[in-house]
Amino acid sequence: MARFIITIDGPAASGKSTVARLVAAKLGATFLDTGAMYRAATLAAMLDGADLTDQKRILDVLDDTVFEFDATPDGMLVQIDGVDATAQIRDPKVTANARYVACLAPARQRLVDMQRRFAEAYGKVVTEGRDQGTVAFPDADVKFYLTADLNERARRRQAELKTKGVIQTDDEIRQAILKRDQSDENRAVGPLKPANDAVIVDTTDLTIDEVVEKLVDCVNTRRSK
Ligand code: C5P
Repeated sequence: MARFIITIDGPAASGKSTVARLVAAKLGATFLDTGAMYRAATLAAMLDGADLTDQKRILDVLDDTVFEFDATPDGMLVQIDGVDATAQIRDPKVTANARYVACLAPARQRLVDMQRRFAEAYGKVVTEGRDQGTVAFPDADVKFYLTADLNERARRRQAELKTKGVIQTDDEIRQAILKRDQSDENRAVGPLKPANDAVIVDTTDLTIDEVVEKLVDCVNTRRSK
């Protein structure tokens, strides 16, 4: 099978995961949620009782843990040492703590290697995260960068948390998003930024279906050239 990589990067709650999953389904590709990898690594360290500022301990946890990421029609099934952690990695505490792993260069390198192995195994992949077009797959076939204004992203995150029974105030959600943006944009390794050749899509006033259609049209146009 010919290799075909589409990257979708962007800030927290910009709709990347939902869009990437639907675009992958339309194109007959496999979806990769790289945020799930940072979350799984963070949860493994938390379950280990590690001090998250102890970089050596985090790397030891990564080396000693078996992570499995499997694409399913609903998203990604995440297993940590054989135990399903798909729901637990979405806990707001894990979300807030993900920055410790995300800022650690050797941890990022291990996760980027995992992402490349995933792409090798599946061949045709739509991958989403922060550094997919810039670091993990600089030679991707098509790169997208999704944005949306803060109020809209907070509204989306609130709707998502409600379906999971998680209660947070609008202000807590807004602050958590801002804090993550700041950490993601300012870290020294794999910072959040559009690749020079990324197509930038502002999704603030678009429905999910409209964003999916836009991306699929763009991919098909590029492929027919
Ligand atoms: O996308 P998601 O919200 O699940 O990502 C969780 C965290 O993992 C992000 O806030 C970011 O710090 C980190 N991440 C990253 N690089 C990626 C994907 C996620 O640093 N490619």
